[in-house]
Amino acid sequence: MKITEDIVYVGVNDREIDLFEGQYPVPNGMAYNSYAILDEHIAIFDTVDGRFGDVWLQNIKSTLGDKKPRYLIVQHMEPDHAAHIAKFMEMYPEATAVATAKAFCMMMQFFGTDFQGRQRVVKEGDTLSLGKHTLTFITAPMVHWPEVMVTYDTASKTLFSADAFGKFGALDTEEDWACEARRYYFGIVGKYGAQVQTLLKKVAALDVQTICPLHGPMLCENLSYYIGLYNTWSSYEPENEGIMIAYTSVYGNTKKAVLTLADKLTAAGCPKVTVTDLARDDMTEAVEDAFRYDRLVLATTTYNNDIFPFMRTFIDHLTERNFQKRKIGLIENGTWAPAAAKTMQKLLENSKNLTFCDTIVQIKSSVNEESNAALEKLARELLA
Ligand code: FEO
Repeated sequence: MKITEDIVYVGVNDREIDLFEGQYPVPNGMAYNSYAILDEHIAIFDTVDGRFGDVWLQNIKSTLGDKKPRYLIVQHMEPDHAAHIAKFMEMYPEATAVATAKAFCMMMQFFGTDFQGRQRVVKEGDTLSLGKHTLTFITAPMVHWPEVMVTYDTASKTLFSADAFGKFGALDTEEDWACEARRYYFGIVGKYGAQVQTLLKKVAALDVQTICPLHGPMLCENLSYYIGLYNTWSSYEPENEGIMIAYTSVYGNTKKAVLTLADKLTAAGCPKVTVTDLARDDMTEAVEDAFRYDRLVLATTTYNNDIFPFMRTFIDHLTERNFQKRKIGLIENGTWAPAAAKTMQKLLENSKNLTFCDTIVQIKSSVNEESNAALEKLARELLA
């Protein structure tokens, strides 16, 4: 697959994977992107996941013919991209690895060698001429590991963006970019908003016409749309107005309260209400939605003097990703000594700029007239 006359895709699609990084369901598979720049000196950008080394090396061979790569540019050392560095360096003994100093330390850890005598350590702003193409290396620590760099090619105005601007899904999948890019972003890079903001500032200074990420499609048009979404996500601003209700329910009574609230919100004209059962629905979709909308309702039971485990896990996922800038409503259920709301508030106490609704709905076993009135009050506060 040609991206430009002399930039060629040599990556692979993974249709076998069930959980990406051991936790994210990827029903439409995954792509591990790798690129070749065909110039006086040939550069290959990153390797691929461990299970696809042979396919990847074959892709390189059929693209290059008798020619040999001069450089392996290693932008990120996570094994979904770096698994075949040692194999590549063995196959192409004339090649030099190009990476940050931290990446070479990681190569030593992964492969027992950092390719002394065949390494080129680069830092912020360093350049490498391939002939017609000149590469500029831009560090991007914690997007998504500390050794990460991205690369700008002046000749083609292409940004090789490492994990940034990636998405779940193999390249032969027809689906909306934002949906799976958002789930990928908040799942994988969500904690590092400040670092993504730093990278976006560096990118803003460049004339970028194509973005080549390490996952998902190459982006060639309407780049301000993708960059705009990354700016929203990394600054933790809500992307859409709407209310997400996340709940757990043991015998259906908390669920009944949640559905009653959703009906009240919809009847009052709220344009978007989404309801998620944290025990049954995809947790990674739930995390995505919590960051997408501007209001979040948490409803759970008191359990073992704590809260139901799926709710605790969900809140942990949010707080470890710096969840902030949202309006929060709380619903608790307990047959004796209900304390779930207090526990949820405590778990969120270090999250910045959260506004809690004054009304905390307390259900004692099942919804009654009193708790129904409280749900009505909560709905009004959420819509205020
Ligand atoms: Fe796609 Fe952070 O690896």
